[in-house]
Amino acid sequence: MEGDADYAAVFKRVCTMKSGLMFLLQYIFKPRTVGAVLPSSGFLARKMVAGINFENAKCVAEFGAGTGVFTDKILQKCGADTKILVFETNKTFAQPLMEKYAHLPNVFVICDSAANLGAYLAKHKLEYADYIVSGLPFASLPQEVSRNILTEARRCLKPGGVFVTFQYSLLKKGLIEGYFPRIEIAREFRNMPPAYVLRCRP
Ligand SMILES: C[S@@+](CC[C@H](N)C(=O)[O-])C[C@H]1O[C@@H](n2cnc3c(N)ncnc32)[C@H](O)[C@@H]1O
Repeated sequence: MEGDADYAAVFKRVCTMKSGLMFLLQYIFKPRTVGAVLPSSGFLARKMVAGINFENAKCVAEFGAGTGVFTDKILQKCGADTKILVFETNKTFAQPLMEKYAHLPNVFVICDSAANLGAYLAKHKLEYADYIVSGLPFASLPQEVSRNILTEARRCLKPGGVFVTFQYSLLKKGLIEGYFPRIEIAREFRNMPPAYVLRCRP
């Protein structure tokens, strides 16, 4: 029994190291779109979904899933009837996520830009996303790309819904406020680097 637990711990550590290495490599190749050298910590992932009741949501959209740290937390909080649309433009990240969640009929990993959320909602016969959880690096994405994504997020968010994003600085708070004027901010220090979580409402 103890041997099994040790083996599981080693396996988990190897997987974490593998996804960390993959992330770092992708950052080296595509610094502006990846925007971070490491995946977010479990602490940050928990804070991103804290205080949101996903239970009755018809749809949760995730922007910029990377290695899926937030996706796992979203899944823990959603029922099997909630459709989860996971956007990730980088094939190196999207492909393993497609394989990982292939057994879950309510999870759709989409290798396309979050700016196209509306088209995918329509494809899934959904009017809105109840919640949007974003891991996108607005600080490093080109301004026009960020603007297109924020416009679409605002347009597609259900009235009463929340757009949650994290940033390493508050440099782009003004930009986000232009679309979501009501922002609550929390801080998570147990992340490399420490991050701000912004809970945004229109
Ligand atoms: C800072 S990483 C966050 C990854 C993960 N959510 C985490 O916290 O560890 C940003 C991710 O957004 C993805 N990305 C960048 N632009 C995107 C876009 N327009 N649509 C969807 N994903 C995008 C990148 O490929 C990268 O995986």
